[in-house]
Amino acid sequence: MMPISSNIASAVLFQFLFGTALAASRLGQLAAANQTLRPSYDYVVIGAGTAGLAVANRLSEDSNNSVLVIEAGDFDLDEDYMIIPALGGAGGAIGTKYDWNISYAASDAVAGRAIPIPMGKVVGGSSKLNAMVLQRGSQSDYDRWADLGNEGWDWASLFPYFKKSETFTPPIDEIISEYNVTWDLAAHGFSGYVHSTFPPFFWPTIAFFARALGELGIPISRDQATGNALNGFWQPHTQDPVTQTRVSAEEAYFDSAESRPNFHLLSGHQVTRLLTETGSNGVVTVAGVEFAPSNSNGEDPMSVRVDKEAILAAGAVHSPQVLQVSGIGDPNLLADIGVETVVDLPAVGQNFQDHILVRVGYSINAPVVAANLTNNATFFQEALEEYLLDRTGPLTSAFGELLSFLPLSTYSNASAEIHAAAVAQDSAAFLPSNTTADFLKGYEKQVAVLNEKLLTTDSGLMEFIWQDGVLIVGLQHPYSRGTVRTISANVFDGVAADSGYLQNPLDVAVLVEAIRFVRQIAATAAIGELDPVELLPGPEVTTDEALEQFIRGTSSSIYHPAGTCAIGAREDGGVVDSELRVHGVKNLRVVDASVIPLLPGAHTMGTVYAVAEKAADIIKGVQQ
Ligand SMILES: Cc1cc2nc3c(=O)[nH]c(=O)nc-3n(C[C@H](O)[C@H](O)[C@H](O)COP(=O)(O)OP(=O)(O)OC[C@H]3O[C@@H](n4cnc5c(N)ncnc54)[C@H](O)[C@@H]3O)c2cc1C
Ligand SMILES: *[C@@H]1O[C@H](CO)[C@@H](O)[C@H](O)[C@H]1NC(C)=O
Ligand SMILES: *[C@@H]1O[C@H](CO)[C@@H](O)[C@H](O)[C@H]1NC(C)=O
Ligand SMILES: *[C@@H]1O[C@H](CO)[C@@H](O)[C@H](O)[C@H]1NC(C)=O
Ligand SMILES: *[C@@H]1O[C@H](CO)[C@@H](O)[C@H](O)[C@H]1NC(C)=O
Ligand SMILES: *[C@@H]1O[C@H](CO)[C@@H](O)[C@H](O)[C@H]1NC(C)=O
Ligand SMILES: *[C@@H]1O[C@H](CO)[C@@H](O)[C@H](O)[C@H]1NC(C)=O
Ligand SMILES: *[C@@H]1O[C@H](CO)[C@@H](O)[C@H](O)[C@H]1NC(C)=O
Ligand SMILES: *[C@@H]1O[C@H](CO)[C@@H](O)[C@H](O)[C@H]1NC(C)=O
Repeated sequence: MMPISSNIASAVLFQFLFGTALAASRLGQLAAANQTLRPSYDYVVIGAGTAGLAVANRLSEDSNNSVLVIEAGDFDLDEDYMIIPALGGAGGAIGTKYDWNISYAASDAVAGRAIPIPMGKVVGGSSKLNAMVLQRGSQSDYDRWADLGNEGWDWASLFPYFKKSETFTPPIDEIISEYNVTWDLAAHGFSGYVHSTFPPFFWPTIAFFARALGELGIPISRDQATGNALNGFWQPHTQDPVTQTRVSAEEAYFDSAESRPNFHLLSGHQVTRLLTETGSNGVVTVAGVEFAPSNSNGEDPMSVRVDKEAILAAGAVHSPQVLQVSGIGDPNLLADIGVETVVDLPAVGQNFQDHILVRVGYSINAPVVAANLTNNATFFQEALEEYLLDRTGPLTSAFGELLSFLPLSTYSNASAEIHAAAVAQDSAAFLPSNTTADFLKGYEKQVAVLNEKLLTTDSGLMEFIWQDGVLIVGLQHPYSRGTVRTISANVFDGVAADSGYLQNPLDVAVLVEAIRFVRQIAATAAIGELDPVELLPGPEVTTDEALEQFIRGTSSSIYHPAGTCAIGAREDGGVVDSELRVHGVKNLRVVDASVIPLLPGAHTMGTVYAVAEKAADIIKGVQQ
């Protein structure tokens, strides 16, 4: 999710006030792992992020498996902006040394802007930077993955893994009675490593949004975790119910595995390539993994041998890069960067997709808003004391306690018209210029699903987030696709990620309708009590053309990059098979957001954890 607003990112102030009090240095563990690095491991996991730590933890449960995780970033120091929900959840770590700090390629479709795409470069990966929303998509979102030809990737198969990853704690009584929060215990897990709960404080204007939805006939669903991530719902976050601090993949899956002698983690080292061997029978095997200190330029790399499998978990932007520099990808790209083709797999780095958002801003009159943390020093001081003494109050909230995901026909009367335009459209015409025939075939299957989603009411097409008068709309099922391409054979030269945002005009059409619906929300009696005045784009911006210009000129990322090593048949542009094995390689899997073939109507962390939990069982040969 998004930072609430830049004026909340008062991380510096916090650090000054009590930075070292909560900090616990992890440097000792880092050195220990380094000193005991073995020449070979059964499993080498590339990337200690959200998925990588989950899968490494589960594989190391078997003491006969030796597991090494290699992570480009360092351990964080539990800085306030990493662990306090109101700071970290508001994006406090974005742009720090824990962020890869890159932007998407500039494009005319977004008015020539290079839109930032923060991603975690730290032990814990993007689960250390994110807004802590732990959420599942709708059942039909995952059922469509299976319909694309991916056996075992429907809702029913993923449901046990959503539960396995989680320990859910209901909200406190005061919150339940004040906000009417509901949940469904049957949909949750209670023995997983990832804590999810509700903070003991909600920013109070969220109640006006809840009432506004009611006025518009939009119900509050009992719980999104049932696979019914529709309408409004109360949203748990990944925080510890006692300390009210962030639970990232590090707190969840590293802390519980680090004492195992068969589990090693090497931080501060970037994987530079996979070392492959091609047998006389033509079978390609990963024999080792090469890496270099992250503060180097990749010269004098070291390597470690792989006895069983390499598992690529470097995220949707860096996993395809590692494949490409290792000779697994599009032969044209590999020739450009001077790498010999080991496996001709053009789909690597294609099918890139991300959720895009647009902000519509109102000024409101409310006695207590998140901005008071920065515009009122007394308020801030009191909030700080409350947090330090009792782990309660404003600093416990990462925002977004009520979210809303709506089908197109709920928020617009134009769904039939937009569907007709979609059916008549040659969607392939809007794909990146280098799209290959295999991906095109798979994309046509995706388009059939996307067209259906314009009419169905079983999945959210658009997210509506309320933040004290700012309404953020987020497109969940984009038609547009981009690409990820390594810049050279050296990973240290970086990677070119083109989100493809808004290349397809259908994506603009459903966003235009969403802005119109925001105005209906603002016109409710409930929001009216807050005296809303539209500042952005301004009430005079009403025509399709003017709204399109606003969308292209101001949109940004919800930070859910995915799809670049999609599950799928090789002839359909799949990069991994249904067991997440890279096509054409014997002992290499991808386990992270890259394997998502089609984004769900949801924030992605919950799905990534479930994918990783399921992957671990697949690798262990366990059937849930
Ligand atoms: C600011 C922000 C807010 C977000 N908010 C939410 C939210 O509220 N809810 C939600 O559900 N989702 C949210 N997301 C998205 C969610 O966090 C991601 O989808 C998810 O964490 C991705 O997991 P991953 O395992 O694919 O990749 P990551 O967690 O990013 O892990 C990849 C890891 O690989 C490492 N790596 C990369 N290349 C190499 C290399 N060559 N060698 C070694 N290591 C390497 C990286 O440093 C990183 O640690 C947000 C994301 C961001 C950035
Ligand atoms: C790991 O050990 C090597 C060799 O002693 C040293 O050069 C390197 O700095 C160490 N790396 C870390 C991250 O401690
Ligand atoms: C580890 O391997 C030994 C010898 O092969 C075997 O007896 C033991 O059951 C294995 N342990 C686990 C946890 O699988
Ligand atoms: C991140 O990138 C921005 C813009 O390119 C730059 O100003 C900033 O210094 C970078 N941050 C870090 C921590 O490198
Ligand atoms: C909770 O329910 C009560 C009684 O129905 C209602 O008055 C109140 O507005 C509700 N609050 C919210 C936040 O929906
Ligand atoms: C398309 O591929 C060619 C050849 O590999 C490359 O030079 C060019 O940059 C690519 N174009 C895009 C838009 O990726
Ligand atoms: C919070 O800020 C708003 C305006 O930004 C102001 O109207 C309100 O009085 C403030 N409340 C407190 C407690 O500071
Ligand atoms: C600032 O916050 C304090 C504590 O909540 C409150 O008493 C005071 O009225 C606020 N000041 C302003 C100017 O709103
Ligand atoms: C659809 O049209 C009806 C009738 O004009 C109107 O009442 C309703 O508000 C419209 N719905 C949306 C979501 O715009």
